[in-house]
Amino acid sequence: MNASAQRRVAILISGGGSNMLALLRSMTGDHPARPCLVLSNDPQAAGLARARALGVPVAAVDHRPFGRDRAAFEAAVLPHLQAARADIIALAGFMRVLTADFVGRYTGRMLNIHPSLLPKYPGLNTHARAIAAGDAEAGCTVHEVTAELDAGPILGQARVPVLPGDSAQTLAARVLEQEHRLYPAVLRRFAAGDRTPVFL
Ligand code: GRF
Repeated sequence: MNASAQRRVAILISGGGSNMLALLRSMTGDHPARPCLVLSNDPQAAGLARARALGVPVAAVDHRPFGRDRAAFEAAVLPHLQAARADIIALAGFMRVLTADFVGRYTGRMLNIHPSLLPKYPGLNTHARAIAAGDAEAGCTVHEVTAELDAGPILGQARVPVLPGDSAQTLAARVLEQEHRLYPAVLRRFAAGDRTPVFL
């Protein structure tokens, strides 16, 4: 696929970026997308160095100076996405809530991975909640981002068993392995214009 037809993917991270890395490694060969930017709200995010080592342009916009003014933080982020000509935004371990206005700029073009089988357990501490509920299964979901947190159209899910004696940490590790399979599979299909959900 020639470069002009390829979708340009910006990946937003807050930490280690293991999902970002899985996405970067997947966008090769005949993949319909290429990474154009990795941006973090934390200038110290370890994922920035990992992306830079792979030759991907990076940027950091520290959210802390903006305090609770989400719109001001997003106004500082937006020029980086525009300069990179991003046409798909992939949130990958990005821990900031985005305003409806910002999300609205990328309606139908912004994805997120959430470590639960949505609609179960939106929000935080998903693994501890699944264990506390006695669930036999847990997993992860890739969804389109909408103004409502963790609630957009589901584009893929992967399931894992909850095992006897699981802690939130052991379950998180098992789910994370599936995140690294699911997100690249969904992005490849999504970048080709196919919204058929992926179930692993
Ligand atoms: C993962 O559990 C992911 O589901 C959540 O953030 C965690 C860390 O992701 N969104 P990463 O290693 O930074 O990609």
